[in-house]
Amino acid sequence: MKTHATKKILLLLFLLVPFLSSAAPRERLLMDFDWKFTFGHPNDVEKDFNVGTSYFTYLAKAGYGDGAASADFDDRTWRNLDLPHDWAAEMDFSGNASHSHGYKKVGPGYPDNNVGWYRKTFSIPESDKGKRVFLEFDGVFRDSKVWVNGFYCGNEPSGYTSFSYDVSEYLNYGGDNVVAVRVDASMEEGWFYEGAGIYRHVWMTKVNPLYVPQYGTFVTSEVNDDEAVVTTRVKVENKYLEDTPFIIENKILSAEGEVVASGTSDEFELGSMHIDEYEFEYNVENPRLWDLDDPHLYELVTTIRSNGEVADVYKTTFGIRTIKWDPDKGFFLNGRHVKIKGTNNHQNHAGVGTAIPDGLHEWRLKQLKEMGNNAYRTAHYPPTPALLEACDRMGMLVLNENRLMGTTDYIRNYLKRLIIRDRNHPSVVLWSIGNEEWMIENGPRGAMMAENMQAYVKKFDTTRPVNAAVSGAWGAGISSVVEVMGFNYLRHGSTDEHHKKFPWQASLGTEQGSTNTTRGIYVDNQEKQYLKAYDVPTPSGFMSIQQGWQHYADRDYLAGMVIWTGFDYRGESTPFRYPSVLSYFGMFDLCGFPKDNVWYLKSWWSDEDVLHILPHWNWDGREGEEIDVWVYSNYDEVELFANGKSFGRKKMEPYSHLEWKVPYKSGELKAVAYRDGKMRATEIVETTGEVAKVTMVSDKNIIKGNREDVAMVTVQVTDKKGRVVPTANRNITFEIEGPGKIIGVGNGDPTSHEKDRFIDTYKTVTFTNWKQTLATESGISQVLNPDFDVQGLKDALNNDGLEPGTEAQKTVFIGQFDLSEEDLSGDINWMFRSIGDNPSLYVNGQLIAENISEYEKVFHLKEDYLKAGINRVVVIATPYVKENPWSVVNTEPGKLQVVIPAEPWQRKTFNGLAQVIIQSTGGAGEIKLIGNSDGLKTGELVIEAVEAEGSPAVK
Ligand code: GAL
Repeated sequence: MKTHATKKILLLLFLLVPFLSSAAPRERLLMDFDWKFTFGHPNDVEKDFNVGTSYFTYLAKAGYGDGAASADFDDRTWRNLDLPHDWAAEMDFSGNASHSHGYKKVGPGYPDNNVGWYRKTFSIPESDKGKRVFLEFDGVFRDSKVWVNGFYCGNEPSGYTSFSYDVSEYLNYGGDNVVAVRVDASMEEGWFYEGAGIYRHVWMTKVNPLYVPQYGTFVTSEVNDDEAVVTTRVKVENKYLEDTPFIIENKILSAEGEVVASGTSDEFELGSMHIDEYEFEYNVENPRLWDLDDPHLYELVTTIRSNGEVADVYKTTFGIRTIKWDPDKGFFLNGRHVKIKGTNNHQNHAGVGTAIPDGLHEWRLKQLKEMGNNAYRTAHYPPTPALLEACDRMGMLVLNENRLMGTTDYIRNYLKRLIIRDRNHPSVVLWSIGNEEWMIENGPRGAMMAENMQAYVKKFDTTRPVNAAVSGAWGAGISSVVEVMGFNYLRHGSTDEHHKKFPWQASLGTEQGSTNTTRGIYVDNQEKQYLKAYDVPTPSGFMSIQQGWQHYADRDYLAGMVIWTGFDYRGESTPFRYPSVLSYFGMFDLCGFPKDNVWYLKSWWSDEDVLHILPHWNWDGREGEEIDVWVYSNYDEVELFANGKSFGRKKMEPYSHLEWKVPYKSGELKAVAYRDGKMRATEIVETTGEVAKVTMVSDKNIIKGNREDVAMVTVQVTDKKGRVVPTANRNITFEIEGPGKIIGVGNGDPTSHEKDRFIDTYKTVTFTNWKQTLATESGISQVLNPDFDVQGLKDALNNDGLEPGTEAQKTVFIGQFDLSEEDLSGDINWMFRSIGDNPSLYVNGQLIAENISEYEKVFHLKEDYLKAGINRVVVIATPYVKENPWSVVNTEPGKLQVVIPAEPWQRKTFNGLAQVIIQSTGGAGEIKLIGNSDGLKTGELVIEAVEAEGSPAVK
């Protein structure tokens, strides 16, 4: 081991050494479960719970979070939910809403839907006293403010950058705590659907005050023959109030848990509130390199010891691998040439919007990998950590992209945070500083900014080059200075000329495609806004996928091509506007169902044998008409037959496809494939029978019963023989039983305005017009009469409570609440909070409860005595008296929660298919999904949830 850090001298006496807790030195807890949620408002203060309106605001005095930001705010009427959550996915569509956000009613013009409040109550044990406790947010869209127990923690404008707060001093140890998060999605950051809310994980990390800070390690390696030199940089932070000595022990473990290198440092010392970095080198013999087919991960286990006690154990997952971007030969991984076969993607899926569970990230990557896709560009923002972890595990290269180009410290800081967070991921092979910055990309300002940012990247990572994606005139501006040129669309110029002009520069196609197709559609229908799935150039001049790949595959200097896009996403429904709400660019639709292009790519990107025929063969009414039949394949030759008649055997040119014209007659199309002159494979497409049944297939028959795992269910409408009917658009309603829930449904139809989520509606109804009168035995029956005239009674309950010294008397408080007809169909609960001693409650003269002893209690109200319109409420109690002039007593007897149940989950199939995403609700058992459709045989699917530990979670 070689230590580069200067040895520090031990100054402290043993007696001064702070006490280290003997419990686990570090805990990382998932904080996704059991949040409360409701809408606030961007500028209507009252609708935003009067937050920040107190005489002393939360910016004036520490701990003065008021309204929904305060610890004792009553959030019991709010909706319960688990994260990740994207409320935009739950909104209706409107032609007036933003095209970019897929016409969901959020953003400009929809202030009532733009601010979301999240609150979570959690307990912190007494034994955590003395620890540092962090709340870590992987990403919140957007402009979030966070309070803990009424203490303002900070504001993060970015919707994509991870952030954390050290809240140790704000917590109640041995008691309850509340975190409140205000999220304001009024403004857009991109030009594509971005969702709204806490759409990525939240974590709580607990450490001793001497610890490795978040993202505090950086592991790099150099591979020489049979050995790797691994450099580890370890940051240590001391939040003790005293200087503290420590040693650092590092162990490098293989995936099998074998220690392959280790070392112990000399003793260092760190001043109170200081942070320092320590660098070590280790040799790893015969390293198992991280590669696409063998994504081997090592783990660096860093133990910080102080006076013989373990202060911290910090684990860093990393890979040993080499990369090279060569100007003439392209990209090399571990010395082997790898052509980049990539897709651009946004974090966005059917049903759930941006709130993608980890299992769904994995599922999406699996679809891409099976297509032969080896690279993922995180267009156009820092990805969620869960995605990068999956790319590391599954073997997927990542082109990791920054959001906004800029060179002020404030803007550049986002780039820094991206790199520091993500630089240990072996999957990340390129940093992109920006995409299509039209204002600057062609000129000297763009060049200046790119040079500045490129140099800045080197401060944090010299192991990966810097890229920018450029669509304007290549040959100037940004494109003249970036280390790796990103060509966006061949229609913009000649990559050959650019390469000639900048021979020192590596390059790839960061965007190619932008073709417009609809899954299962083979005839354009402008009126319905469906576009055929044949791979053709767009009328606006974007090349077909085939034309693009032929260009990139043919040129060694081009490292590869990244398609716009892998999956369809919400928004950017080019070439259409409303009612279309999804993009048409995907190789897969929004559900991840393949469009035919997937087989073209699979033919030339993967090692698998491919033989695929398009279109389907259900063309009732088009008998005799010539239909374009295409075959995607990587065999040498293919012969096509229709109902037994040959239409000829054709030779497949590399990176191409085959076409025939076939007059339609129901029956079958058959492709017979040859390699080396021998028949190797056949593929048949048949005209199906009538729709007969609902069939459901899950990607997994067993899931973990841990509240996190998901199953992806494909719902098919099939004929009697079980063949998917490719034209079936049938509504299916779903029921689910057992320890699972549906979290989203979809079908990939770009014009569908069906609901993605079926969510109960939560309303809060407040009591108003409080009056009061003293309770005298004789008068009580009179005041309980719902028609009792309250005119002339004193106003009540709009003050801070009775002043100290007042002698409180039993009082009748008479108020009212308003219910709509719709409210009456719901579940109505009085979330009662006491305003005095021994209260009794009445609604419309009906006794609800007498002499209640609890401070808070829930009473279910019944339809028998409720009515649409004004209802009367009476509380009889001896009101609380304030102890001191400044004390606060409750004067609001709670609120009503109205829960209107959602309709049953349902979705139409689109061209035969729909999707249901199921998530474990915890525990083992059989999850049964039932799919019903009028006139069709019911579909049933059983998924077994098995007992499994989830991520350790905050209670
Ligand atoms: C590109 C842009 C992408 C997407 C695409 C649609 O110019 O970088 O984000 O908008 O066009 O064709």
